[in-house]
Amino acid sequence: MALPQPSDSATALITGASAGIGEAIARELAGHGHGVTLVARREDRLRTLADELSERFGVRAEVVGADLADDAARGDLPRRISELGLDVEILVNNAGFGGGEDFVRTERERLLSMVEVNCVALLDLQAVYLPQMLERDRGAVINIASTAAFQPLPGAATYGATKAFVLSLSEAVHEELKGTGVTLTAVCPGPVKTEFTEAAGLKGADEQVPGVLWMSAESVAKQAVDAAADGKRAIVPGLLNRAGALTGQHAPRMFALPIVKRVWRRTL
Ligand SMILES: NC(=O)c1ccc[n+]([C@@H]2O[C@H](COP(=O)([O-])OP(=O)(O)OC[C@H]3O[C@@H](n4cnc5c(N)ncnc54)[C@H](OP(=O)(O)O)[C@@H]3O)[C@@H](O)[C@H]2O)c1
Repeated sequence: MALPQPSDSATALITGASAGIGEAIARELAGHGHGVTLVARREDRLRTLADELSERFGVRAEVVGADLADDAARGDLPRRISELGLDVEILVNNAGFGGGEDFVRTERERLLSMVEVNCVALLDLQAVYLPQMLERDRGAVINIASTAAFQPLPGAATYGATKAFVLSLSEAVHEELKGTGVTLTAVCPGPVKTEFTEAAGLKGADEQVPGVLWMSAESVAKQAVDAAADGKRAIVPGLLNRAGALTGQHAPRMFALPIVKRVWRRTL
């Protein structure tokens, strides 16, 4: 199954497009001729990217600045996008952030905000746009999870739990959509060179995570868009990440959890 055909009134809504994987997915989709609507807090960055994409690929590129942790701002997004006269035919739920501290050492506000951005905003946008896609019988959703989804993560417990939520929700809804013209694909990257580690406060990650595990945002973006075009349920980019995901899913917790804790603490 292919992605919906680009058209003047259709857009690909990409959250977290001001950096990293979201920015790369915006480039990838625009390169395939899709108009894009870019969402994040840093509007100046979104504007620069939108100008580049419309000039380079001749697509319509809109900017909608919003803090997805903010309930009111999130609730207002669909109205702002429909005022632009656009139908969201591709939704990329990518915005997210992590953390690298034990649960009790992390500020309550940060934990709540992580759940708001990583889970509630994703669920909310999916709840708004999936019914519209089904009415048109065409559309595609890409939800960015993580290899963190495959096992609990002592040292980043809330982040791991948010990504397990994203993967579980996505796989179930993918199955519910079978037989329709709409698809939903979860993407579970391992370490990707972006601003993520800095935003998460994972100071040691760049040195501690073996070089062979790192992927580029561009490579993850291409695999994400290809997987959505193929109507896949979930993908884990990278052979080593796929092996890690399998281990994370099947290793007995009593052995796996102390090892994960030790490895994770070394990256702090
Ligand atoms: N990098 C990795 O190693 C890795 C691995 C697996 C999964 N992931 C997932 O991939 C996704 C993208 O991460 P990335 O690596 O590209 O990180 P990044 O470079 O830090 O980009 C994160 C994006 O999310 C946006 N964002 C964060 N908080 C937001 C908020 N409150 N409201 C609106 N937008 C917000 C940021 O925009 P503003 O700051 O401008 O708002 C930015 O555009 C995340 O869901 C992450 O969990 C990353």
